[in-house]
Amino acid sequence: MKIGVFDSGYGGLTILKEIRKRLPQYDYLYLGDNARAPYGSRSFEIVYEFTLQAVKTLFEKDCHLVILACNTASAKALRSIQQKDLPVINPEARVLGVIRPTAEKITSVTSTRHVGLLATPGTVASRSYYLELQKLAPEIIITEHACPMWVPIVENNEILSPGADYFVKKEIDFIFDKDPLIDTLVLGCTHYPILLPVIQKYIPANVKIICQGPIVAESLADYLVRHPEIETVCSKNSGVEYLTTEHPEKFDHLASLFLGHPVESLTISLKD
Ligand code: DGL
Repeated sequence: MKIGVFDSGYGGLTILKEIRKRLPQYDYLYLGDNARAPYGSRSFEIVYEFTLQAVKTLFEKDCHLVILACNTASAKALRSIQQKDLPVINPEARVLGVIRPTAEKITSVTSTRHVGLLATPGTVASRSYYLELQKLAPEIIITEHACPMWVPIVENNEILSPGADYFVKKEIDFIFDKDPLIDTLVLGCTHYPILLPVIQKYIPANVKIICQGPIVAESLADYLVRHPEIETVCSKNSGVEYLTTEHPEKFDHLASLFLGHPVESLTISLKD
């Protein structure tokens, strides 16, 4: 049994990379729904439908544990899938998201208790981070801001273009104007670490950036220790395979750039 890692596109690779660094022994199957990305501006119903298709596909392909390496899918589909679908389609399997472990990390990083969240319109509208923080540390003031252009910049490999600088600076200036006391900036979309060199140019020097890859990797390691019934059925050949709903050549080229090693993917179509 493999561990499935799902994202709307390339963003989940930033999570997969850190998971494989932390837990290299397991076998992974990555699925990017690149042909239908971005998810960030899509409705709740559509993100849920697409995410459920992806989860079912990963189950059919021998995954019994799936990480939604996507905040938008975690915000809009995780709860329904865990509570409504899993008991029917695969009660033994597990699906985990990225928001809860990130919220836990936020509470230990901020000193001013003023936090900025940059994410997709869908994640911001869901208020998932605000709600998680309300449970964990209600004194934290979170300013949530959507960056609708950042995922298209990554998916179209425009990260070195002047347009990337323009849109990154615009959103960062906006959030720090809104709350100058922010000392912790959360990249609440798994695509955003790919823009990190640009983001770093524009944030104030005292601000800490939270990227989710290492947090999710640590949280998965901890989960596997606490759940031996899942851990023992994970195969351990250090393998990784990639599936995309796009043309594989396009995926392989960009995924190789983002991961820093060659990637060979297969195309798949997602249906109910
Ligand atoms: N990478 C995803 C996230 O973390 C989704 C981006 C998108 O498709 O809009 O939210």
